Amino acid sequence: MPNREKAMVCTVVAGAFWGDEGKGKIISYLALKDKIDVCVRTGSVNAAHTVVYKDKKYALHMVPSTFVYERSRLLIGAGVNVHVPQLLKEIEETGVKDRIGVDPQCSVIEEKHSTMDKSSAHLKGLGTTGWGVGPAQEERVHRTGKTAKDVPELAPYLTDVALEVNTAIDAGKNVLLEGTQGLMLSLFFGTYPYVTSRDTSASTICAEAGVGPTKIDHVLLVYKSFITRVGTGPLPGELSKEEASKRGWFEIAAGTGRERRSAPFNFDLARRAAMINGATQAAVTKLDILFPACKNATSFERMPNEAKEFINRIEISIGVPVTIIGTGPSAFDIIDRRK
Ligand code: IMP
Ligand code: MG
Repeated sequence: MPNREKAMVCTVVAGAFWGDEGKGKIISYLALKDKIDVCVRTGSVNAAHTVVYKDKKYALHMVPSTFVYERSRLLIGAGVNVHVPQLLKEIEETGVKDRIGVDPQCSVIEEKHSTMDKSSAHLKGLGTTGWGVGPAQEERVHRTGKTAKDVPELAPYLTDVALEVNTAIDAGKNVLLEGTQGLMLSLFFGTYPYVTSRDTSASTICAEAGVGPTKIDHVLLVYKSFITRVGTGPLPGELSKEEASKRGWFEIAAGTGRERRSAPFNFDLARRAAMINGATQAAVTKLDILFPACKNATSFERMPNEAKEFINRIEISIGVPVTIIGTGPSAFDIIDRRK
């Protein structure tokens, strides 16, 4: 039996609410701080992960967010639907062609899928992103869809992702599985039918990467200090656009340029998300938006009491520690409370 070096860990990063919690920022921090040897991106092109590094802002739809750590091997798991032109564009932009790998069994999103996504009245009613992920998933389930091994441009990148990632875990490397969106957009657990076309929980992130649940050491669940959602569907406690702007919560989506709706942090949903994801720890982002005195803070002790109380209340609700707190857009605007 392979002997795992316990010092190194396999971590799943998942979103708690409706996506856009700031997973890209948290993952880019972990990449640099923990030296993530291997990262597997899951989900699909509909999600944009924002990474700000060396004064440059990236909105990554396909390339794993650990690319900022130059020794990180970047993998795209078999469960992913790959959008080939977007992937190739991002490989160029991030300069990672020598360290990215794509599983031959990834499904491929074709132009027709995006056309269907944008022209279907039903899908438009759900407020989909229009990338074609839902129609590509339908075709995959129908077993008529193309896979990555059918696309000549992907030939240089093809690799057995499940084998690579499991070998890395067994060799005691630092591995991260990158989830997308959030539990409330899950096909299984979200606000159906106003959801995305896959489950977004930690278990499915593992499945899409090809990693069994016994190999996971940590599930880091990412929350934002307030809630946002794009598209249609319920949003408990939703604020008017005026109120959202007044509070500084009004956001424009990184991927689609759409306006985000917003609502205050929801402790009941937070608890449910921790339960279903099996969270072992949590990250809370954008604390500086809720409490401007926290801007760029790196010490928990020096934060104002009301900010500390907010974090304590989250911990009591979800039953796991808030180990990482985001206090600004850059990878290192972080309070890291891990030992
Ligand atoms: P689809 O995933 O493009 O089919 O869109 C289904 C729903 O999920 C819509 O409400 C989208 O706005 C939402 N959605 C999909 N991806 C993301 C994301 O990365 N962030 C936030 N919302 C998303
Ligand atoms: Mg996003």
